[in-house]
Amino acid sequence: MKRLLTGIQSSGILHIGNYFGAIQPSIALQEKADETVIFIADMHSLTTSPKPEDLRARVRGVALDYLACGLDPEKAIFFRQSDVPEVCELMWVLNCLTPMGLLERAHSYKDKIAHGIMPNTGLFNYPVLMAADILLYKANLVPVGKDQKQHLEITRDLAVKFNQTYEEIFPLPDPYINENVAVIPGTDGQKMSKSYNNTIPLFEDAKPVRKKFMSILTDSKGLEEPKDPDTCNIFQLYKLFATPAQQEEMAAKYRAGNYGYGHAKQALYEIYMDFFAPMRKRREEILADESYIDEVLRKGAERARNIANETLSAVRKAVGLR
Ligand code: ADP
Ligand code: TRP
Repeated sequence: MKRLLTGIQSSGILHIGNYFGAIQPSIALQEKADETVIFIADMHSLTTSPKPEDLRARVRGVALDYLACGLDPEKAIFFRQSDVPEVCELMWVLNCLTPMGLLERAHSYKDKIAHGIMPNTGLFNYPVLMAADILLYKANLVPVGKDQKQHLEITRDLAVKFNQTYEEIFPLPDPYINENVAVIPGTDGQKMSKSYNNTIPLFEDAKPVRKKFMSILTDSKGLEEPKDPDTCNIFQLYKLFATPAQQEEMAAKYRAGNYGYGHAKQALYEIYMDFFAPMRKRREEILADESYIDEVLRKGAERARNIANETLSAVRKAVGLR
């Protein structure tokens, strides 16, 4: 059986870069694996000591948005990481097998230090908690972004070390890095990122979203001049939503002239609104049902916990704990 697992860090309001780069691909995978496990990594978020009310609100926000985008809680086991605290026990066992040097070489840790962040040992141990997430559920396939590749290597190292030291319990997980996922450009043409203030949000109200579209940077060609769709930010974003025929049609308008960037922005705004309309509707429905999210996460945690406990009893026995 192939079990696919991924964790989501809850880091704020989601944008369309997140949607096409992370949400849509992981939801598409729920159809492919025998079992899909998706959790919100709130314990990882604790490494930055967010305000408790912010952390709680973000977890709900991420759950809401993923459910609205089509995550099916019947198909995927969807839960909050901290609802299965057993992961900490496995983390301890793995900690006792982890050489300091392995973590000292972690790029993401070194990056943070280079940026002057005073590390706590939670940040240092971040990859071990991630390894525990993956091994606790005996995942075979882990979809992640390129930046997480090394964390997967650390996970595999720890799995091998455990299997050799004690008993063959853990399958070696493979990373699933989709090289075809394009980097979505933001309103200024750089990578869309909340750090660059160039995002187009997924679920904001229509009016501020339209403003974001109107602020997309273009060259200064006049209305009547022919334009090049391939170098235009608006067109790059339009392609995400449009059928090949619609793309051809807009490209022809660009090349013909008498088609202004304002027209293209309006067309992009409209196709974005149409594309996300069903998800916006679903989101409203979920919000109207106050207990829905809690109920989904509670049921998800129950399913996750059954798997976790099975793994942990074998681990305790293998290492000589109670
Ligand atoms: P941000 O850059 O806004 O801080 P995160 O680092 O929180 O976004 O990214 C969360 C997920 O969304 C990651 O899997 C990342 O690869 C994906 N993602 C973020 N921005 C983009 C983008 N512009 N294009 C494609 N994928 C993206
Ligand atoms: N570290 C991952 C990220 O920042 C989130 C994460 C936590 C994760 N635990 C995981 C991803 C386990 C995959 C598997 O994106």
